[in-house]
Amino acid sequence: MSAIAILGCMWGDEAKAKIVDYLGDTADYVVRFQGGSNAGHTIVVDGQKFVFHSVPSGIMYPGTKCLIGCGVAIDPLGLVKEIRNLEASGLTFTKRLCIDEKVGLVLPLHQELDKVNESRLASSKIGTTGRGIGPAYADMTARTGIRLGDLGHPAYLKQRLKEIYAYHGQSLDAQTLKAVMTQLQEAWQVLKKYCMSVENILSEAYLSGARIIFEGAQGTLLDRTWGSYPYVTSSNTIVDAVGIGSGFSARLLDEVLGVYKAYVTRVGEGPFPTEIHGPLADKIRKQGNEFGSTTGRPRRIGHFDAVLGAYSARLNTLDGIALTLLDVLSGLEELKICVGYKLGGKVLTTPPAHPLDFNKIEPMYLSLKGWEEDITGVRSKEALPVNAQIYLEAIEDLLEIPVKVVSVGKERDQTFKIDL
Ligand code: IMP
Repeated sequence: MSAIAILGCMWGDEAKAKIVDYLGDTADYVVRFQGGSNAGHTIVVDGQKFVFHSVPSGIMYPGTKCLIGCGVAIDPLGLVKEIRNLEASGLTFTKRLCIDEKVGLVLPLHQELDKVNESRLASSKIGTTGRGIGPAYADMTARTGIRLGDLGHPAYLKQRLKEIYAYHGQSLDAQTLKAVMTQLQEAWQVLKKYCMSVENILSEAYLSGARIIFEGAQGTLLDRTWGSYPYVTSSNTIVDAVGIGSGFSARLLDEVLGVYKAYVTRVGEGPFPTEIHGPLADKIRKQGNEFGSTTGRPRRIGHFDAVLGAYSARLNTLDGIALTLLDVLSGLEELKICVGYKLGGKVLTTPPAHPLDFNKIEPMYLSLKGWEEDITGVRSKEALPVNAQIYLEAIEDLLEIPVKVVSVGKERDQTFKIDL
């Protein structure tokens, strides 16, 4: 038996799905436990690209079952489309996908509210993905939310819809109610065969010695409590969310692997101490194809931040690091790693909690030499150019966690393990 969590450790987009896919060939189960269609996971196999939003990446392996735990927020209409698109690419879902009946739903109403909230918050816009995630989680907390299992009870669903619209001060005439009911019931016809109790499946799987991977979405710095609040998402993303969002206690995990890019990116608004502007950022963005898989937005680019990296490693009790997109840094003369922050005459080695302090900090950098070589064909640490090995070891030393997986390209096989 082994249960492993694979988590994004910065602001998301760390190429988690690639690592889940790389380690997933022997997994019996891959489980999503938080987030929703704000996530965009891309996997490339033999040049074919697969994009996932809510479906766990384990669907790539025919022998793997994919579970969506109750901590995920599902857009039922979007999920039906995603399943159909992936089926059209040759993937199969029958008897392989299970969605917890307690999953909260993202309704078209939530997507509208997300847009309205963003336009009202002109001065402190979050830069959300516009997928309705914040309003949907807020409704689940306010107990006005609708859950997947409710779709199987039309009279109850109708009543809940009237209540949720009233709660948000939105009018719901008979025609709109009918239209929403029809949309949801059409989605239910597709989704009902997948609707079951994920915690029961996981508990049996654990007892039978199955290999389970928990696939995080977004990243630690987007955690709604521990991230760069208020510029965060609306779910908890750290390791403890595994239990809350799936019913499988995080205490039972054998391994927690943190995924970090070899540099840092962020989409949306909010503090970013090591952000780079100008030609260097443009070069990395182009080499790393740093455009959002969900929204297509260009990602902001920065130097590796070991202060935030170590914070995230500690919060998630990491056992190892998966370092991704190392190949993107080939050809840079100098590489910088942030090792501390200056704030008001003091040196900080942990991030400040307040966003106003975050904006004032001045990063302190360690400077390392880059490497020229193309490393996309490298399959061992020893075969990396010496300066790439030094860079990797500097990250290990600063985070005090070993690098166990390295990714040097988009393809599944452009990856190698170190002591894993
Ligand atoms: P929301 O999750 O759509 O509410 O967006 C809140 C913040 O999280 C915004 O800054 C988004 O850009 C960011 N965000 C949400 N999902 C992802 C993701 O999968 N990758 C990177 N950033 C994300």
